[in-house]
Amino acid sequence: MKILGVVGSGRKESVSGVHQLVTTVLENTNHDYTLVSLRGKKINGCIACLGCVKDNICKVQDDLTEIRSLIAEADAYVIGAPNYYSTFNAVTHAFLERWYQFRHQEGDTLWGKLGVAVGVGGTSGAFPADDIEKLFLYSFIETVAKVTGQGAASCFSCGFGETCKVGVPTLLYGEGVKNNRRYDSAGYPAARSDGSRRGRGLTLGERLRNGHDRQAVSQKMQQTLMQMFAESA
Ligand SMILES: Cc1cc2nc3c(=O)[nH]c(=O)nc-3n(C[C@H](O)[C@H](O)[C@H](O)COP(=O)(O)O)c2cc1C
Repeated sequence: MKILGVVGSGRKESVSGVHQLVTTVLENTNHDYTLVSLRGKKINGCIACLGCVKDNICKVQDDLTEIRSLIAEADAYVIGAPNYYSTFNAVTHAFLERWYQFRHQEGDTLWGKLGVAVGVGGTSGAFPADDIEKLFLYSFIETVAKVTGQGAASCFSCGFGETCKVGVPTLLYGEGVKNNRRYDSAGYPAARSDGSRRGRGLTLGERLRNGHDRQAVSQKMQQTLMQMFAESA
C-alpha cells in the first residue's frame, strides 16, 4: 500500500507546522509513502477547458503534470494545508481543484480511496482540514481522520510582532506581549507528535492493512455527497 503525502505550506520544512504534522501522520501509518511539497511549485487552478473529459488527463502543463501519476497510483492520501483567512491556502486549493481531471465518465481512479486531512493555523487548523475533507468527498475519497494543530503565525517571526497593532501576538495576548513565553515560535506545540495523532495515523494504517472495500467506500461517499447537495439546495 502506498500513501501520497502532500505538504501545502509555502514555508520551509524547518518552520512549517503542516510539514511536521503531515510527516507525523505518515510515519505512524507503517506504510510506504511518498512526500510531495507544494512549496515553490507553480500549480494553477482548473480553467474549465474540459480537455480532460475524454481521457481524465488534464491538458494544462505546469508543476502538477509530473505529480499526476503519484496521485493516480496512491492507495491513500495525507494532505495538509495552512489556514489562510479561515480557509486553505491557494496552492493547496489549486492542487485539489485540478483533481477534477479524474472525475469524468468511468473515471474511478480515486473512488473509494482513503485520506487524512491535516490543517494548521496560527489559531486553528480546523478550516483547512474541513476544506480538504470536502474536496476529498468530491472524488469519493473517505476522510478517515482530520488532524489539526496550531503552528506559528508569521507575526511571531516577522520582526514587528511586539509592536504591530494588528498582529497575532497582540490580538491573542494583548499589548505588551514582549518576553511572553508564548511569543517563542520555536515550540510549534500542537504540531508535535502526540498520542492522538499517532492513533489517527494508525487509523489510516490499519484501514489499509485490513484491505478496505473500495466499492463500498465509494458508494458511501457518493451518498454523503448527494446528501450534502440535498441539504444545500
Ligand atoms: C496570508 C495568511 C493568512 C493567514 N490567515 C490565518 C487565519 O485566518 N487563521 C489562522 O489561524 N492563521 C492564519 N495564518 C497563519 C498560518 O495559518 C500559520 O502561520 C500556520 O502555521 C501556517 O502553516 P505552516 O507553518 O505550515 O506554513 C495566516 C497566514 C498567512 C500567511
